[in-house]
Amino acid sequence: MKAATAPAELRLLRWLLVLAGASVLLVGCGGDPPSMLDHHGSEAESIAGIWWVMFALAAGVYLVVGGLVVVAVLRRPRHDDAEAAGAGGLVEEDAHSERLDARWLWIGGVVAPVLILSVIAVLTVTTTRNLRAVEDDALVVEVRGERWWWDVRYPESGVRTANEIHLPVGRPIELVLLSDNVIHSFWVPQLAGKVDTIPGQPNHLRFEVRDPGTYRGVCAEYCGIGHARMDVMVVGEEPAQFGRWIARRQQPAPGPSNELQAQGQRVFMSAPCAGCHRISGTPAEAEIGPDLSDVGSREWIGAVTVENTPENLAAWIADSHSIKPGSLMPPMPIGGHQIEALVAYLNGLR
Ligand code: CUA
Repeated sequence: MKAATAPAELRLLRWLLVLAGASVLLVGCGGDPPSMLDHHGSEAESIAGIWWVMFALAAGVYLVVGGLVVVAVLRRPRHDDAEAAGAGGLVEEDAHSERLDARWLWIGGVVAPVLILSVIAVLTVTTTRNLRAVEDDALVVEVRGERWWWDVRYPESGVRTANEIHLPVGRPIELVLLSDNVIHSFWVPQLAGKVDTIPGQPNHLRFEVRDPGTYRGVCAEYCGIGHARMDVMVVGEEPAQFGRWIARRQQPAPGPSNELQAQGQRVFMSAPCAGCHRISGTPAEAEIGPDLSDVGSREWIGAVTVENTPENLAAWIADSHSIKPGSLMPPMPIGGHQIEALVAYLNGLR
């Protein structure tokens, strides 16, 4: 009998090992997205702390339950043993094991879950309360979810930009998250948790950038056809460098520095571009599309869709839909040389 049951037990154990191996391998899926465990902001650090506690508790439960399953499989009572014990022994043994079962049901089914969930609940509530604490000297930045890009304004200095948020390290930051269209969700995992932008309800995200660097974020709420290409870059800078960036942005955008750029500026002002975009210090004052006053200094275009190269910018202007399906910017009926001049002008806006 023993020889016949062994392969079935081994098969079950083998499957358990395969499942455990597969779950480890799945952790590596999804390329190289920014992870909150690689945190560089105060709020992300608190969230990562809770994550590790939850991971440790879940791993503990997994190991205990998995271990009990293995023990149950290996120590299954055998028919021949039971027969040898005789009928009287069986009745006694059944009553004893029932009492034992009931005790374990209470411990494993009630006491342990209540304890584990209580620890998580207390940690979550206290951490959430700490994250909401208001700092008096915080730098306020308004971030608006648009379709499908991010509008960024610094009320203190009157600076406006798009898709790239410069922040000083070591200073409390308060992002005011806004929307006048649909619900988006602002999430830069390495810096802070995600918070929705809801029409008619300003939300607040408070954190501090700990280390200089560039941190990628996403729109984390499905918001329409352009949702998957609605990323954002946060640039954490030393306070002095941030101060220089703000000071430069407060100046009017640089004018054309050669004939090609001058021609490009004329194209911009006469084509539909100026009807939607703003370039500070010029007659272009529209606020429908992203502010382009510093577009030449940005690393990406289309809300971090493609790198900001002259070729990509020319292709974007000609037909942004070919790069980002659903983009609200219509194709521009502008000739080849005019696009070249326009790109030269936009590239000079730094
Ligand atoms: Cu905006 Cu998803």
